[in-house]
Formats: sequence, C-alpha cells, structure tokens
Amino acid sequence: MTCPIPQAELDEIYAFAIDLARKAGALLVERIEERNSEQVYAEKENAVDLVTQTDEDVESLIKTAINNKYPHHRFLGEETYAKGQSREYLIDEKPTWCVDPLDGTVNFTHAFPMFCVSIGLIVNHHPVIGVIYAPLLDQLFSSCLNRGAWLNESRQLPLIRKPAIPPLPPTAPSKCIFACEWGKDRRDIAGGNLERKIESFTTLAMEREARGGLGGMVHGVRSLGSATMDLAYTAMGTVDVWWEGGCWEWDVAAGIAILLEAGGLVTTANPPDDIDGPIESVKLGSRLYLAVRPAGPSATETGRQTQERTVREVWRRVRQLDYTRPGLQTSST
Ligand code: IPD
Ligand code: CA
Repeated sequence: MTCPIPQAELDEIYAFAIDLARKAGALLVERIEERNSEQVYAEKENAVDLVTQTDEDVESLIKTAINNKYPHHRFLGEETYAKGQSREYLIDEKPTWCVDPLDGTVNFTHAFPMFCVSIGLIVNHHPVIGVIYAPLLDQLFSSCLNRGAWLNESRQLPLIRKPAIPPLPPTAPSKCIFACEWGKDRRDIAGGNLERKIESFTTLAMEREARGGLGGMVHGVRSLGSATMDLAYTAMGTVDVWWEGGCWEWDVAAGIAILLEAGGLVTTANPPDDIDGPIESVKLGSRLYLAVRPAGPSATETGRQTQERTVREVWRRVRQLDYTRPGLQTSST
C-alpha cells in the first residue's frame, strides 16, 4: 500500500508509539503490584465483560500523550467508545489511533499474564503502525509499514525464519496450533454464536475421519483470552491459525498491522459462498477475523498459496458467525 504520511514521519510516530506502549505497560504492572485485595472491576454488557479503573487510567494516559503530540490525528479507544451510544464503525481515511489500553481485562483481574496494551495507527483504512506490549511477559511486538515486524525491537518476526520461514503443513489445519476465543456472548441460544463457535472448535480438534471427513485434527486448540495476543502470537509464527468473531477494531488494529508486516494473511472468519474464489483482505471493523501466520514456500507452492489453502480448509470446517456492524465501510485493509 502507499501511505500519504512520509516514511520519515511514520518512523518518528513509530518510535513515539513504542515509548508510549512501554509507559502504559509499566502502569499496568504497577497496578497489579499495588493490588492487595481482589481486583476491583465493573461489569459492562455482562459478568465477563469487565472494565477496571486501570483500563480507564491507561486509556487516558495514552489519549493525552497522543492529543498533545499529534492534535490533528483522531483517537478511538475502547473505553471512550464504550461510553458512547452509537455502535457505528467510526474510522475513515484520516489518520486514526485505534487503542485498547488493556486487552485481556479478565486475565488482568486474575494476574494471568496474557494481557497487553495495544496501539495501532490506521491511515486510509490501513493499519500502518502496530505496537503491543504484554508487560508481565515483557514482550513488545511492533511494526511500521516497510520496517518489518519485531519482538522486543531486536528479533524479527516470524521467529522461525532461518534457513527459511516454514510453509503451512500440507495437511493444514492438521498439525497446526489453532487459536480461538470463547468471547463474551455466553447466551444459551440454540444456533447462536456460542453454539456455532464450539461446534467449529470441536470440528477442528476432532480426528480426521470425524464429521464426514471434516475433522481438523489440529495439534492444539488455544484460547489466550486476548484477541490482541492471539494476533501477536500468529505474527510470531507460534500460532498457525486464529479464528474469531465478535471482537472490535481496537482488539485487532495493532495486531493486524504487525501480522501483515510479518507476512501473515488476515481475512474474514465467515466462509464465503464461493470458498474457492479470490480471498479478500479483512475489513477492519467487521468483527470477523481469520488470520494465518507468515509462511514460506514449499516444494510445490508459494508461501501465499499455503496460506490460502489453509484459509479454505478452515472455512470448510467452521460455521458462519453472526455479528452485525452498522456503518462499516466497504474498503478493506
Ligand atoms: C476481549 C478479549 C477477548 C475477546 C473479546 C475482546 P477485553 O477484550 O480480547 O479475548 O474474545 O472479543 O473484547 O475486554 O479484554 O479488552
Ligand atoms: Ca479489548
């Protein structure tokens, strides 16, 4: 893609975002260490949709720093958005910071280390900068357009790249690590999203002969409890496939930037009518995501072909999820 912001300016913004993510991460750790009783939280939509004072404080730290440094940029943060009435998709072509101050809030309240701060910059609908910092793990994932994707600013992603980035397995999703999330919609509705997700997870986990030959026999099913961390680990190459419905743009903006810069693929979670047709890039804001790790060529396929084959094999095994979104633009990342 071409970005209207000159590379030198992007590089400066990138350094600013990394510094900011580290500061925000330090505040998250401080709050865990200060805690001497149960973490205090409020429930939003239901008992698993949580917000803590820390979510609010970290968002305010990030928002203030961005507004001071880049007053002409827009800002969209999870907590600011959650307080508004509208559920419209708000990002347009203007430079917009898309921020989750604390992804994996449930993990945070239990001091389970899979939580992070996520800072993305979207320009012309494309995520061009992504920074994710998981402070208890001290893992900082980052990328800037044309600058590669990095772990702790020193190890290029994906991690396994020498002598070459491996292709996806010829039998994928078998032999893959498959990540998914249970999500926050726990309503017991026959044919609802929870039922469809669980049926899909099970199909992917089952032996190959199961369900009329659709069994995925994946090596493992993982649920990290943070959509952002799922994407970061897919960019690292340690998760092969991530499939999810229901998360929001701040959960994925930075992760998509990092995954794309690392060489990954992101498309929609929902199988299209023509599974064998061209694979479209994901629409940020669609709430439906299927991500595949960076892949190198095999003897018979390009890396991209191994990714696309994997996407189609996952689509054959999952059910359509139903998450609507008003105001979604038609353009894709
Ligand atoms: C949630 C987590 C979770 C995903 C949800 C997100 P939060 O974000 O990423 O894994 O399933 O869709 O909303 O509430 O922890 O910031
Ligand atoms: Ca989140």
